[in-house]
Amino acid sequence: MILIVNGPNLSQLGARDPAVYGSLTLEQILDEARYDAPDLRVFTSESEGELITRLHVARDDGTTAVVINPGALTHYSYALRDALEMLDMPKVEVHLSQTAAREEFRRVSVISPVVDATITGVGGFGYRLAVQAAQHLLQR
Ligand code: DQA
Repeated sequence: MILIVNGPNLSQLGARDPAVYGSLTLEQILDEARYDAPDLRVFTSESEGELITRLHVARDDGTTAVVINPGALTHYSYALRDALEMLDMPKVEVHLSQTAAREEFRRVSVISPVVDATITGVGGFGYRLAVQAAQHLLQR
C-alpha cells in the first residue's frame, strides 16, 4: 500500500499562498491522487519527529512505497533524510511548486539523493503523478 507523507504547512493548502501552491486543499489533492490508488494511506504532520516516527513504522506495516512532500524540511532535515534512507522501497518526492525556480534556499533538497524520483512544479496534480510513478516503480 502506498503511503503519502506531508510535512509542515501542507495542511494549510487552499489558504496558503494560492499564487504559488494553487487553490485546492490537501484533501482535494489527495482525492485526485486516490483516483489511481483508492487505498492510499496518508500521514500529515507539522512535526519533524512525528514524520520520522511514521517512516520508522512504515518499514513494517505493509507500506510498499512512499510518496513524500516534506515541505520546508526538504531543504535542511538530515534526520528526515536518514529516516527515508532506511526505507528499502520505492520513494517519490513531490513538490507542488517548481522549487528550482524559487528562492535560493529552496534550490537544495537534502531529500532527493535518497529517493527514486522527484516531481516538481505541476501543482496538486503532481501528487497523482507521484502515485503513478510509485506504482510504476513497484512493477519494475
Ligand atoms: C513545497 C516547497 C517547499 O519549499 C515549501 O517549504 C513547502 C512546499 C512544495 O510543495 O512546493 O512547504 O514542498
